[in-house]
Amino acid sequence: MFLGGQLNIEENNAIMTSVRPEKVAEMYDVTGELGLYLIFDNQLHFGYWGENNPDANLGEAADRLTQIMIDKSEIRQGERFCDLGCGVGVPAIRIAKAKECFVDGITISKYQYNRGKELAEEAGMSDRVHFIQSNALQVPCDDATYDGGWFFESIYHMGHRKALREAYRILKPGATLLIADLITGPNTSEEFKMFAKEQLHSDHIPKEDYPELFDTAGFDLIEIDDVTEFMMPFMVPKVKAGFKQYEAENLQYVQSETIDGWLQVFESVCENLGYILVKAKKRVYP
Ligand SMILES: C[S@@+](CC[C@H](N)C(=O)[O-])C[C@H]1O[C@@H](n2cnc3c(N)ncnc32)[C@H](O)[C@@H]1O
Repeated sequence: MFLGGQLNIEENNAIMTSVRPEKVAEMYDVTGELGLYLIFDNQLHFGYWGENNPDANLGEAADRLTQIMIDKSEIRQGERFCDLGCGVGVPAIRIAKAKECFVDGITISKYQYNRGKELAEEAGMSDRVHFIQSNALQVPCDDATYDGGWFFESIYHMGHRKALREAYRILKPGATLLIADLITGPNTSEEFKMFAKEQLHSDHIPKEDYPELFDTAGFDLIEIDDVTEFMMPFMVPKVKAGFKQYEAENLQYVQSETIDGWLQVFESVCENLGYILVKAKKRVYP
């Protein structure tokens, strides 16, 4: 999910920096306070529109993607799951309920950490879903703590190689790791890549990089599903409808130029990136 500022690709042509966690935190804190999360029903990832839900709104389609991720997970009752980059914790609460597991949600954003705790409380799930405000590249836990985990639309903010190294450290051998990721492809322009880095604090890679990345990090790749066609073509009209729904009441204090800027960001992202769901297992050495 991209919740950045105004789109100004030209201005960013000359700038090339690596993603900084404090910038990511600021971006999500500010947009959370402004109420942007509402249009996604607090699930801060793209939606999935398949045969069964062509008319779904943004929140419902985001929920559908969460269900697909839950179905891919192999976490069992009573086990510990780590949500690396958890937003306000709606997917964390959903998987904890569905699988009767314990979930630690890691977010770099203070706003999300506080809101996540409130939402877990409201859902009656605070005994099973805990939030940690931390950099997911340095999770405050022992090695091999978790039975499973995911980077649900978050790894591009962290740097894939470093993030996988930390995931390897905190997961138990044989644990399943899921990743929902926005990827570059033939349509991705160099200008967009620079804009994403500087303004969206995101660094995207092509899906072809995944086999080597996993292999080096000590994971066995199970599957890569390219779901671009079920997601990207639908997003912009649904985001527009979402803004319309909330603009009058909940987003009344947000300037219309800001909303136009957000919309432009989504348009640009959908033109430039694809979407994959990846499943891997931490390698078990004999
Ligand atoms: C697009 S949101 C996805 C949120 C959530 N997974 C969901 O689907 O609702 C990206 C998330 O990654 C988190 N994030 C990004 N970089 C992080 C880092 N270095 N450490 C911890 N969290 C990070 C952000 O705080 C945010 O919660």
